[in-house]
Amino acid sequence: MEVPWVSIETLPQYVDKRVEIRGWLANKRSSGKITFLILRDGTGFLQATAFAGEHFDSEEVKSLKRIPLESSLIARGKVKEEKRAIGGYELELEKVEIVSEAEEYPIQKKEHSVEFLMENRHLWLRSRKQNAILRVRNQVIMAIHRFFQERGFTLIDPPILTPAACEGTTTLFALDYFDLGKAYLSQSGQLYMEAACMAFGKVYCLAPTFRAEKSKTRRHLTEFWMVEPEVAFYNWEDNMKLQEEFVSFVVQTVLEKCQRELEVLERDLKPLERVVPPFPRISYDEALNILHKKGFQIEWGDDFGGDEETAISEEFDRPVFIHHYPKKVKAFYMQPDPENPELVLNDDLIAPEGYGEIIGGSERIHDLNLLKERIKEHSLPEEVFSWYLDLRRFGSCPHSGFGLGVERTVAWICGIHHIREAIPFPRQIYRLYP
Ligand code: 4AD
Ligand code: MG
Repeated sequence: MEVPWVSIETLPQYVDKRVEIRGWLANKRSSGKITFLILRDGTGFLQATAFAGEHFDSEEVKSLKRIPLESSLIARGKVKEEKRAIGGYELELEKVEIVSEAEEYPIQKKEHSVEFLMENRHLWLRSRKQNAILRVRNQVIMAIHRFFQERGFTLIDPPILTPAACEGTTTLFALDYFDLGKAYLSQSGQLYMEAACMAFGKVYCLAPTFRAEKSKTRRHLTEFWMVEPEVAFYNWEDNMKLQEEFVSFVVQTVLEKCQRELEVLERDLKPLERVVPPFPRISYDEALNILHKKGFQIEWGDDFGGDEETAISEEFDRPVFIHHYPKKVKAFYMQPDPENPELVLNDDLIAPEGYGEIIGGSERIHDLNLLKERIKEHSLPEEVFSWYLDLRRFGSCPHSGFGLGVERTVAWICGIHHIREAIPFPRQIYRLYP
């Protein structure tokens, strides 16, 4: 009879049936005359047992124990329910075929330094925790697409090579671009999304972005992924409403689809279950008051860093919006508050549990002359923004959007300390390998 090749995550459908698993040897042990092989195939981990009897003689059982860790293999056997085994199922082995015997595997059970693990990131990805994190990331990205697609947004891909800065000139990666001078790796797709929303109404992109950040914090990468929606005729309040619906959709979807992964990560689910609208909203001034009460030496007009964000988030049981920042700490394109032009119609969304800012959003300047003025104030070269100014010449309208950092969001949902584990191959100022 044909024995089907199945994935470990589908084993509940095959209890008492014979299956084939193709994967790798993640761990092994023996007890008396039994050899236990822990197999992994990317979708899960499975205990496979071999004992002397119908299928193996005692020499064969012993030789299974000698298979080096991380060898690739094809295993056949019968699926049994086994509550005590990893994943809740067990394979009673009938046959093991080694596809490739591994050399001595550098990652052992003992504690390794993060530096060592990062140097071996290409192998570290195989471990149970890293597998869980990146499977959560997968669901986060699918949820992002589902949310926007179901609401009539069009996915528009922005360019990565750009002629100008979007988020400040101090964090630009520059490269020589043929006869055209300098090109820069995109810091944000926003400006292109603004063009696209005037053509398609509601748009979003999900793309890599680059910041030559000197920061070595647990929240910064030099290459990260950002989802950036932009909507014509939305004001800053419509924008915040979209953000809270979006973030809660993503979190609730992961809670539903990644129960096993969150269990592996030992994530406390209560704080995630609370992530439902409405999120609290405080102004920059109110945030400053909270900080002063907590003893922070910070003046009006200062930007908030990670410590300030953490202190503010401690006051709330779900993500919190901080809106109306001083214009001088924010980007050139933000619409001033009509009641106080020193402030802008923006918001940062601060995640709970100390994960800091996950969203930056704002209403954009739609008036041509005001935008020209702001470009000048920021000493940006007007020529390269000529196309962007056109959007204010041909049917301009109020419009708003935001950017959510995928890695910060994944790190928060997974409850991991550093965002470098929330992306398959992190890029940081001191890391370009592997
Ligand atoms: O606040 P930022 O800089 O906003 C923008 O780039 C806007 N153009 C977005 C928009 O309105 N379309 O970045 C947005 C988010 C941050 O809240 C954070 O989650 C993430 O991007 N982010 C980073 N993530 C990892 N490493 C870095 N160096 C990051 N810089 C920003
Ligand atoms: Mg920001």
